[in-house]
Amino acid sequence: MTNFTNKKAIVFGGTSGIGLEIAKLLMQLGAKVITVSRRGPQSDANNGMQNEMADVLDRTALKAIFEHHSGFDFLVNAATGGSRAIGPFLEMDMDGFQGSFAKLWGYLNTVQLGAPHMSQNGAIVLLSGYPARKAKLGSIAIGTVGNAVEGFVKLVASEIKPLRINAVCPGLIDTPMFTQQGKAREDFLSNGTEQNLIARAGQPEEVASAAIFLLQNQFVTGTIVDVDGGAISA
Ligand SMILES: NC(=O)c1ccc[n+]([C@@H]2O[C@H](COP(=O)([O-])OP(=O)(O)OC[C@H]3O[C@@H](n4cnc5c(N)ncnc54)[C@H](OP(=O)(O)O)[C@@H]3O)[C@@H](O)[C@H]2O)c1
Repeated sequence: MTNFTNKKAIVFGGTSGIGLEIAKLLMQLGAKVITVSRRGPQSDANNGMQNEMADVLDRTALKAIFEHHSGFDFLVNAATGGSRAIGPFLEMDMDGFQGSFAKLWGYLNTVQLGAPHMSQNGAIVLLSGYPARKAKLGSIAIGTVGNAVEGFVKLVASEIKPLRINAVCPGLIDTPMFTQQGKAREDFLSNGTEQNLIARAGQPEEVASAAIFLLQNQFVTGTIVDVDGGAISA
């Protein structure tokens, strides 16, 4: 098992939702954490971390970050990347569909540019999403992106060994990615999960604990861990 003490972790999207919880857990476990996002920290929750501002689509900025932190141990990318196209495929604006792939390009950029700067025992975790394997009206675009993320993890693992790479596949998780407030938010989260085996939205820390497992367990690579409340099995 990996010991996190004094190890260096870069968490893209580490200032909100799932990425923030992963960053907090890593810091509690003794890692030195660097978060990267476009706007920087949105609350005191990032205190004690080094926070840098960059867009995961900006390869020049990413190169500078990786060169500066060369020799780092863990790479997590939980950045949403850009907008998400929601709606029936046959009616979808294809620019919107293509735009949803910003998440994939951000992930690919960070793995391609970051891996050469990682320590030999390093590990990478990406985030897919349950629409990758659960047909859900309106989620074809984000499901296709999730599929691409999962396929990439499985295929690239052999090329980058001994570095390890895995993904966590979250179900519907209560994070700031969803902007609804009050009753509209409660309804959205409960309607979206009522058919699941565990009929509630997940919490970001429930996803973060799976990311920590994947970073820590040195016998796991090229795989996906579902933390979805049974959404895919329902
Ligand atoms: N929440 C869910 O129900 C759910 C379900 C399945 C999968 N997921 C996946 O889990 C991951 C995390 O989602 P979340 O719910 O935690 O989202 P979130 O709360 O909206 O957080 C997204 C984070 O990514 C950063 N970010 C977004 N675009 C970026 C860019 N282009 N460059 C750099 N940083 C960027 C944001 O900061 P800035 O805006 O300041 O850049 C923020 O720190 C995403 O990949 C998402 O698709 C989430």
